[in-house]
Amino acid sequence: MWIAQISDTHVKAGNVRLFGEVDVAEHFTKLVARLEALSPKPDIVIHTGDITNDGEAADFAQAAHCLSQISVPVYIALGNHDRRETARQALGHLPGIPSKGRFSYVIDDHPVRIVMADTLVEGSSQGELGAEQLKWLDQTLAAAPDKPTFVGLHHPPFATGIGFMDRIGLRDRADFAQVISRHPQVKRVGAGHVHRPFTAQFGGTIAMICPGAAHQVVADFTPDSAEYWNADPPGFLLHHWTGEQMISIELPVESSPPRRFSGDHLTVE
Ligand SMILES: [Fe+2]
Ligand SMILES: [Fe+2]
Repeated sequence: MWIAQISDTHVKAGNVRLFGEVDVAEHFTKLVARLEALSPKPDIVIHTGDITNDGEAADFAQAAHCLSQISVPVYIALGNHDRRETARQALGHLPGIPSKGRFSYVIDDHPVRIVMADTLVEGSSQGELGAEQLKWLDQTLAAAPDKPTFVGLHHPPFATGIGFMDRIGLRDRADFAQVISRHPQVKRVGAGHVHRPFTAQFGGTIAMICPGAAHQVVADFTPDSAEYWNADPPGFLLHHWTGEQMISIELPVESSPPRRFSGDHLTVE
C-alpha cells in the first residue's frame, strides 16, 4: 500500500500570492498532477494540515476544488492556519470527518489503519491534542493492536531545532509519546507544520515531518533565529507499506527528466 502525504498547501482564494510572491494555487495544481502521475499511483492521500492560509470560506472552497482533482481517497488533518467549522462546511464530505467536534477519526478500509488527530487550537499557532483526544487515541489504538497503523496530525511531536517553529509546536507531545509507546503497531507518525522534512525517533516508532507544498521554512538552527521562509523546492512524502515494513521516501514535486545510465554496467552476483 502506498500512502502519499502532502502538507501545508496554504491555499488563498482568488489567485492571491502569499507574501506577494508564492503562487500557492500553482504549487497545489503541480502537486496534484505529480500525485496523479506517480507509478504506482498512491492508494490514498493524507493532507497534514494548513490546508488554507487564512481559513476563510473562499479559501476552503478553492482547496476543496484542488483536492477534488485527486482520484484516490483524501484524508485531512487541520493546521493552525485552518478553521474547524469553515473546514467542515467545505470538506466535511471527505471520508471519516465527524459531523461535530474535533477532526479525530479512523479509517479502516485499507491494509494500513489510518488514525487522524486534531491539534488545532483556534486563536493559537501552537497545537494541542488535549486529554480527551489522547484518551480517545489510546482507546482507538488499543482496539486494533495487530493492524499496522499510520497516525496523522499537523503539529509535529518533536522539536526540530528551528527556534521559532518549536515555539509554536505541540504542547502535549510528551503525553502523546506515552500513548504511542503503548501501541507498537503504529508504524509511522506523519506531521506537517514545519515546511521542512525531518525524521525522529518518537514513542518507539518513527515520526516524520512532510515538506511544504509551497514555501519552505529556512533551516536555521540558531535558537532565536528570525522567522524566515524561502523558495526551496516543494516536496511530499510517500509511505510504502510492503506488508512487513513501512518505507518512507521524500520526493520533490518537480522532478527533472530521466537520463539512462550509460557506459556503466550494474553487476549482481
Ligand atoms: Fe504551514
Ligand atoms: Fe502550521
